[in-house]
Amino acid sequence: MSRILLTRRIPSSVFSQLESQHTVDLNDRDSLPREELKRRVADKDALICVLTDKIDAEVMASGPALKVIATIAVGYDNIDVAAARERGIIVTNTPDVLTQAVAEFTWALILGIARRVGEGDRLIRAGAWKRWGLDFMLGTELHGKQLGIIGAGRIGRAVAAKAPAFGMKAVFARRSPDVKDPAYISLDQLLISSDVVSIHTPQTPQTYHLIDKKALARMKRSALLVNTARGPIVDEEALAWALDERLIAGAALDVYEKEPEVHPDLLRRENVLLAPHLGSATRETRTAMAELAVRNVLAVLAGDEPLAPVT
Ligand code: DGY
Repeated sequence: MSRILLTRRIPSSVFSQLESQHTVDLNDRDSLPREELKRRVADKDALICVLTDKIDAEVMASGPALKVIATIAVGYDNIDVAAARERGIIVTNTPDVLTQAVAEFTWALILGIARRVGEGDRLIRAGAWKRWGLDFMLGTELHGKQLGIIGAGRIGRAVAAKAPAFGMKAVFARRSPDVKDPAYISLDQLLISSDVVSIHTPQTPQTYHLIDKKALARMKRSALLVNTARGPIVDEEALAWALDERLIAGAALDVYEKEPEVHPDLLRRENVLLAPHLGSATRETRTAMAELAVRNVLAVLAGDEPLAPVT
């Protein structure tokens, strides 16, 4: 029997798979303070965490017996993977199982910002809706427009696959000039020509503030920016500036630079649709994510290869 630290509650059906084989130390609160995390990981062989747990070299040093760190997320920017590698700790994530949920939510945001759904909801609740009007709260039609996808991984491609249903043409930002597929264009070309720009790239040092003032200034004045990937990919200060300067028409965000804080200038804008990091938040998907994380840990503890190692 190994000892596992589980930093959040998971569905009971998944929890019981873990508990039937190992000793589980469950943190059943919604957060786990860093000092407590370090203390509780001290005698553990495995750690199952979530994206808000920062797992750096110091945390790993506090858990000298750790064999595996399994995050219940596809993104693993909260884990110092290089430090884990140095210590021989396997890191795993939960790709694939959340692809459709995040793609669906991305479309919820695209449609929501294009047709001013949040704004209309706020207006009615404020008692400010007076009557139907021919020119009242006009939005933007998606049909016949171009969707520019930054990040042609599983999620980016799943979002693109749904574009024809809305009559949109999808293009992707090309990472290498050698790619000959005409659907792949340079990032600059994508920014200049897209009506909706949707971000699906991981957070890395290279993608930090990828969407900055310069990038925003390249976009169409009528364009909408959507981010369901990671907050720090967009410079929020620059985004607020671009919206104030009317350089783009609106933004829909699920992720933020300093979650759960949101830049105050974005909070006050009607043409910004905000969601509290819900991309993968469906019952089906969150259960599947927890299950995959548990299967990763069980495999490593049994001396087998995990299903989804971070390479
Ligand atoms: C992930 O898995 O990285 C998502 O952001 C979780 O919703």
